[in-house]
Amino acid sequence: MSEPGRARGGGDAHPLRILERWFAEARERGVADPTRVAFVTASAAGEPSARTVQLKRFEQESLLFTSTLYTRKARELAENPRVALLFHWPAAERQVHITGAAELAERSLARELFDERELVRRVQTIASRQGAPIDDLEQVRARHAHLMHTLEAPPECPEDWGAIRVTPASVELMTEAPDRIHERALWLREGDGWSRSLLSP
Ligand SMILES: Cc1cc2nc3c(=O)[nH]c(=O)nc-3n(C[C@H](O)[C@H](O)[C@H](O)COP(=O)(O)O)c2cc1C
Repeated sequence: MSEPGRARGGGDAHPLRILERWFAEARERGVADPTRVAFVTASAAGEPSARTVQLKRFEQESLLFTSTLYTRKARELAENPRVALLFHWPAAERQVHITGAAELAERSLARELFDERELVRRVQTIASRQGAPIDDLEQVRARHAHLMHTLEAPPECPEDWGAIRVTPASVELMTEAPDRIHERALWLREGDGWSRSLLSP
């Protein structure tokens, strides 16, 4: 496992290893935070929804995200595991479209990723019920400030906060070209391996 953006060796036979390399290259080309990605889920009835999340970690065959588990995305994942992810880095002239299946990762991993968060973010997680209707932001701000000043120890990972593991079935790696003849490499999981084909731009 490695942090997003830390490219390792391993060559070009696996789209996630290429993606790891692309993270490092995106940073070199001025993309401030390549981990930001559109995360698309759908209800059991097929109604889609999207939001931005941040990639937390690469695994050998999957990608890890975190979220509170009562949010729309988490509810939709529970009834329909099929998801899509879309990275777009204009400064690097690259786009990555991933489809696959999502599942809730182990509690131990959720705790580990929670403990890695900055304290202010850990406290924010317990100060704000994400997605709940509120009258005004001041209440949330005041609760957050109060907790920051009064908590005697950093909060532990809440039961309703977790890690989401996305295992790709397809990865399309697109590189823009000045002549508009962009390279679109489509990787499809086949058994334990991957096939690669080129798509016309
Ligand atoms: C730059 C950025 C990064 C974000 N990262 C995350 C994240 O890693 N996890 C998360 O649950 N929400 C993240 N959010 C908030 C989500 O976009 C979204 O508002 C929230 O998760 C609720 O989404 P949902 O109700 O559709 O599930 C991020 C938002 C922005 C703008």
